[in-house]
Amino acid sequence: MANIERLRVFAAHTVQSVARHGQDEAAVLSAITPALATLVSRDDFLPEAYAKPHPQYYQQYLLYGDPAQNLSIVSFVWGPGQKTPVHNHRIWGLVGILRGGELSTDYTEHEGKLVPGETQLLSPGRVVAVSPRLGDIHQIANAHDDTVSISIHVYGGNIGRVRREVFLPETGEVKPFISGYANSDVPNLWAA
Ligand code: FE2
Repeated sequence: MANIERLRVFAAHTVQSVARHGQDEAAVLSAITPALATLVSRDDFLPEAYAKPHPQYYQQYLLYGDPAQNLSIVSFVWGPGQKTPVHNHRIWGLVGILRGGELSTDYTEHEGKLVPGETQLLSPGRVVAVSPRLGDIHQIANAHDDTVSISIHVYGGNIGRVRREVFLPETGEVKPFISGYANSDVPNLWAA
């Protein structure tokens, strides 16, 4: 059975960090990054229902959202070989790798074109940040074509509802994108 208490403690820490540091993004990220690294250092807290892959699409399950929509905690589940399109976020986000491994490629704008940086292999325990301030456009892929990969993400808003964009770097095409969530129920963090 999942150790939901660890997820509750992490959610409480993120709520307190956002309340304390408000709009100071660097301070919020400094406060949450080590807590997310601790959370994903042990793969014992994620209920099965929020770790399930879909045969066709990567899944985005809301684990916790504060009612004021100042933060959301989400599990991303990539089936073998699945990947995101190149996309932005428009709010800060932290990605903590829990299971498997992910390939992350950052994109920067150069003379109106999106240019990929080096692709990094992210292994369990690793935490990386995205934001309009730090660099907001990337693509994430499952590093494995034979197993599921999972990461836990924290965002400074209701990421499922943010109006953002996906990019087709080869053609320069930009499309509006609202991701939503794969689940309609969230885990009961008070069940422990
Ligand atoms: Fe992303």
